[in-house]
Amino acid sequence: MNSFTFYNPVKILFGKGQISSISKEIPAGARIMLTYGGGSIKKNGVYEQVMEALRGFEVLEFSGIEPNPHYETLMQAVDIAKRHQIDFFLAVGGGSVIDGTKFIVAAMEYEGVDPWDILAKREPVKKAAPFGTVLTLPATGSEMNSGSVITRVSTKEKLSFGGAYTFPKFSVLDPETTFTLPLRQISNGIVDAFTHVLEQYLTYPVNAPLQDRFAEAILLTLKEEGPKAIQNPKDYDTMANFMWCATMALNGVIRTGVPTDWATHYIAHELTALHGIDHARTLAIVFPSLMRYKSETKKEKLLQYGRRVWGVDAGTEDECIEATIQATIAFFESLDIPTRLSDYEVGQDTIDHIVKRFEERGVKNLGERADIQIPDVKEILTMSL
Ligand code: NZQ
Ligand code: ZN
Repeated sequence: MNSFTFYNPVKILFGKGQISSISKEIPAGARIMLTYGGGSIKKNGVYEQVMEALRGFEVLEFSGIEPNPHYETLMQAVDIAKRHQIDFFLAVGGGSVIDGTKFIVAAMEYEGVDPWDILAKREPVKKAAPFGTVLTLPATGSEMNSGSVITRVSTKEKLSFGGAYTFPKFSVLDPETTFTLPLRQISNGIVDAFTHVLEQYLTYPVNAPLQDRFAEAILLTLKEEGPKAIQNPKDYDTMANFMWCATMALNGVIRTGVPTDWATHYIAHELTALHGIDHARTLAIVFPSLMRYKSETKKEKLLQYGRRVWGVDAGTEDECIEATIQATIAFFESLDIPTRLSDYEVGQDTIDHIVKRFEERGVKNLGERADIQIPDVKEILTMSL
């Protein structure tokens, strides 16, 4: 097992009715900015529950944070929050609202010239305003990690940042808040969480059987509970299990002491940046090709994944690997998530565009062995056409 440091300070308040506890988690007298998206929280009672819980606090609302949150919008929030001397933020929504709020809290305290440099130049975040979250969409794990992915509309860039200062102080995970999710977002959440696990598991063995089994437990649970969530999106227990899987998939636990890949996410963000394709769908396009392209260097873990998660054990190693990739694709497609670029009317010109961007950005050494270079990215995307 590799050496590691594990740090996760996020307090989780899980279960029905937990929104009512948030006032105990926020400093008395705080001036709060409530951040949310396009209004889903007003249709499902979450907004009312939050406002009720915040009674007695001064609350300023900032709505309209888009899916794939926009730097341009978030900077407006920073401006307003500074003018109103906001000292606590509460993000209520999915990964986009939470990620957007992470950027706001980092930009609030940024001492450089342009907070975009946190993303573009990877300027370190040295402090940030405190914030909590109420999650309404199980998918990203953003509620229990410090990462954030932000889009700049003017340049069509989608970049990420993170660090010790952008963990939420607390996150409420109430499965009932998910009952209004459209099936598309449930499918997206399952595939995003599933891919998060694979990016941290499907690498090479380092004799870390506990981490492997943690990862396989999440994959198997998503495989079982995912289809149930689609069938019955208002079943509390199903949504509770799905929600906790998505959080556990990206809160740092399963990546302790093991190599991680993340090439799929890195490449896939470009498809959202250029075409607005939902994050999870871009992963479903890139991941199968990456598995196939890197099947030699991922061989041992691919065989283990196939055997333990999909029950693949007949045939030669090559046949088992192909059957495993096919099982993964079939799972994504069973959730109504197409896996080819052509399904999204994306063609060769986009691949060329991504290659050019990566050349300009000097992208190199992606993947767990730092062996995926720009020509490999081109191959992988071409395999997804
Ligand atoms: O904006 P509202 O009106 O709230 O509607 C949202 C949005 O339209 C809706 N929604 C959320 N909860 C709902 C609901 N509709 C009905 N009922 C509910 N309970 O769902 C739509 C999508 O929301 P969004 O937050 O964009 O989805 P998701 O949670 O999948 O987040 C995606 C973003 O997270 C980033 C992605 O790149 C993308 O920008 N990621 C963040 C990560 C992280 N911070 O660790 C890791 C991930 O890999 C990912 O990159
Ligand atoms: Zn993701």
